[in-house]
Amino acid sequence: MSDAPVIAIDGPSGSGKGAVATAIAARTGFHLLDSGALYRVLGIAAHKAETDLTDPREVAFLATSLQIEFGTNGPDSVSLNGEDVSLDIRTDLGSVMASRVGAIPAARAALHERQLAFRQEPGLVADGRDMGTVVFPDAALKIFLTASVEERAQRRYKQLIAKGIGAILPDLLRDLKERDERDSQRPVSPLKPAEDAIVLDSTDLSLDEVIDRVWNLAVTRLPGLAS
Ligand code: DC
Repeated sequence: MSDAPVIAIDGPSGSGKGAVATAIAARTGFHLLDSGALYRVLGIAAHKAETDLTDPREVAFLATSLQIEFGTNGPDSVSLNGEDVSLDIRTDLGSVMASRVGAIPAARAALHERQLAFRQEPGLVADGRDMGTVVFPDAALKIFLTASVEERAQRRYKQLIAKGIGAILPDLLRDLKERDERDSQRPVSPLKPAEDAIVLDSTDLSLDEVIDRVWNLAVTRLPGLAS
């Protein structure tokens, strides 16, 4: 297995970790793992196949048999068994199903190997909930990016409105709280900072400020990046 350096960026929904991870991957030239997208694809696949989520064997079989490809249809594209599901996985259904399958140990075990395979030279920026705690415990830098739930709901609201999608702020807030609860209370790989993670609260920071802070930490931990 590769021992290429890993920068792990974990945190709750809407903390901005996806945007930060993408920017840091571009700046470092590292590969990018959006682990949430894997859980989202599995969630959508389980929904389509009407998989019984109470049957661990059925879930594990589905998770290991899926053909998931990134970037074949544009930089953010994801395909499932050859079908472009880039938009499906970002719907509310995709979010809820991802969070539900993410609570199933057999699903997490089945996705583990797939995530490890993203670790390749010159390095990896991995974004998720358990990158620093479970999947890449030896990551060179672990960031736990957070923000108040109200601020995260506001950000999501603005994003949806900007895209012309109708949204109701109190509903978004309630959904985020439910997802936080499910992701952090589950017995397997709950959302929590690794002991050696640096917790960054982005409530009062702009995206650029967060990216700068993470970049500065990355250069300190991996001095080769600066050259
Ligand atoms: O990062 P995201 O919002 O795309 O993640 C969607 C869901 O997937 C999240 O609510 C929980 C699950 N997930 C997980 O359990 N473990 C990860 N490493 C990433 C996501």
